[in-house]
Amino acid sequence: MTGGGLQARAIRPLIGSEIVLPKAALLSGEHAAELRALLEDRVVLVFPQAQLSADEQVAFTRTLGTHQPDRADGGTTAISIDPEGGASANLTRGAFFWHFDGYMNPVPIRASILCCEAPADEGGDTAFANTAAAWEALDAGMKARIAPLRCLHALAQAQRAVEPEPSLATLRQWLAVPSAELPLVWSHNSGRKSLVIGNSAAGIVGMDPLASLELLVTLRDFATQDRFTLRHRWQAGDMVIWDNTQTLHRALPYAPGSGRRMRRTKLAGEEPIA
Ligand code: OGA
Ligand code: MN
Repeated sequence: MTGGGLQARAIRPLIGSEIVLPKAALLSGEHAAELRALLEDRVVLVFPQAQLSADEQVAFTRTLGTHQPDRADGGTTAISIDPEGGASANLTRGAFFWHFDGYMNPVPIRASILCCEAPADEGGDTAFANTAAAWEALDAGMKARIAPLRCLHALAQAQRAVEPEPSLATLRQWLAVPSAELPLVWSHNSGRKSLVIGNSAAGIVGMDPLASLELLVTLRDFATQDRFTLRHRWQAGDMVIWDNTQTLHRALPYAPGSGRRMRRTKLAGEEPIA
């Protein structure tokens, strides 16, 4: 519980709070400051049975900060691996691996808000890992070793997990999306630090490729161990917000035709990774 009257229950010791608020209270923005503070602290907020419509999801997003739409009409984004999803279906499959959203943007989005219209008939949970808590828990030697390092992030790296032997034409499409060299450890304006890793991490700058691979897998394995993670099993009407600057997330596998229907909105970022 916090001073402003918001009831929040910790889901796991190091990640996640569950909040039950009437729809009118969500949409009025009266708890926006408390929700933002809680998001910063708990990194994932779960609103069971929030039951927001697409328009209400956009309105709620706007109460928390700057809504950053993917679509020209400002609506929500459908998350789908169904073949009708076209070329974007394989991009969405990249989400089956631990990642954060938008490494290629100079200022990555602050948070994503995902609402479930229909869960998958099998699979399709979403898992989250607290990369700030993981950084905190690293031993001093590892912290000192990785603090100065930089890592190249690229769509080609992420998509190879989905399609290991792409045609040259497909590879060139991936390579056309700009890569980004980012610090391995993000020093946030808040004073926190977090690990910047995930499926887009192609290699530590200036390091032998296999030593780099070993370090990146070491860090991912550490950050995604049970104590730093939370897994949400969706029911229709649920809403989850994650702090994209201090987490990794992934969808657990589900099949095309599973019936899973999700919609996402994004909160614009407020600081570059530095
Ligand atoms: C996303 C994402 C995971 C999911 O929307 O960015 O990774 O479970 N979604 O659909
Ligand atoms: Mn994602």
